[in-house]
Amino acid sequence: MERRIRKAVFPVGGLGTRFLPATKAMPKEMLPVVDKPLIQYAVEEAAAAGIEEFIFVTGRGKQAIEDHFDHSEELERALLARGRVRELEALKRWLPAPGAIAYTRQQEPLGLGHAVLCARHLVGEEPFTVLLADDLILSRTPTIGELVALHAKTGGNVVSVMEIAPAQASRYGIVAPGEDDGRVVEVSALVEKPDPADAPSNLAVVGRYVLQPEIFAHLEGLRAGHGGEIQLTDALTKMIGERPLHGVRLEGQRFDCGDRIGFLKANLCFALMREDLREETRRILEESLAGASGTDAKPSAKRATA
Ligand code: UTP
Repeated sequence: MERRIRKAVFPVGGLGTRFLPATKAMPKEMLPVVDKPLIQYAVEEAAAAGIEEFIFVTGRGKQAIEDHFDHSEELERALLARGRVRELEALKRWLPAPGAIAYTRQQEPLGLGHAVLCARHLVGEEPFTVLLADDLILSRTPTIGELVALHAKTGGNVVSVMEIAPAQASRYGIVAPGEDDGRVVEVSALVEKPDPADAPSNLAVVGRYVLQPEIFAHLEGLRAGHGGEIQLTDALTKMIGERPLHGVRLEGQRFDCGDRIGFLKANLCFALMREDLREETRRILEESLAGASGTDAKPSAKRATA
């Protein structure tokens, strides 16, 4: 029987160069979608799936993440003094239990596979999950929980997959599918960021994984792959044949928050879902769109030159 999965690894050591200058001194994973940082969405998703231990692989300039998952005495005192008890309680509610968080540092950002390898001693000899915070997923049930549930049946490695437009294949790890029941697909090979013409399917890997501890030995032996980085995809590929690899089609919507347009879209969608923000967001959008299409171009121009 497969072991129960208790641990989640959050690789947050990347440089976030697509978001410069915002990410020069601030971790990409702390960018907020509406009023919650990306990393908190990921931690909440893991906690909702029953994960008990949260392992962050950080890097230089990522201290804000540690502070975020800690008490802030000053802030808590101030909220209490102002009678804002509900906000205070809410702040404390999502803090993981004392000792449930561990941090390790990726000394150089050598790629996602290398970041996962850095968690080796904290994970130990048990299967574990990996969540990439910049893949923000909106779904009724936690996506990582679906992977964990499949893993209990199939064992091996499990990844989340979604259909993409063929032209976008060069932005993703792409699956060569074996048996496919429309929801779960057996993966017979993986290709990292192929040219669209060489892509074996239109199924792309999304940033949620259940991994066997043997992955570490494979990661350790890897040379830099695509983009000069140590790729998790390459280690997964090496394990095919040794252990099964399955993809679970994503239910819900995934936002690529490592990309500016994906991040903007996430903010709009999440604001439109919030009762307290929906009307105002919609109004601002309608006004902006009307402005962009030229209907109020003159007043805007006047304002701009006033
Ligand atoms: P990305 O591929 O988006 O890379 O990483 P990046 O460096 O963060 O961003 P860009 O491409 O320069 O804009 C996906 C996830 O893997 C982590 C990132 O922090 C992010 O959560 N990562 C990436 C690491 O932890 N270490 C690395 O060396 C690379």
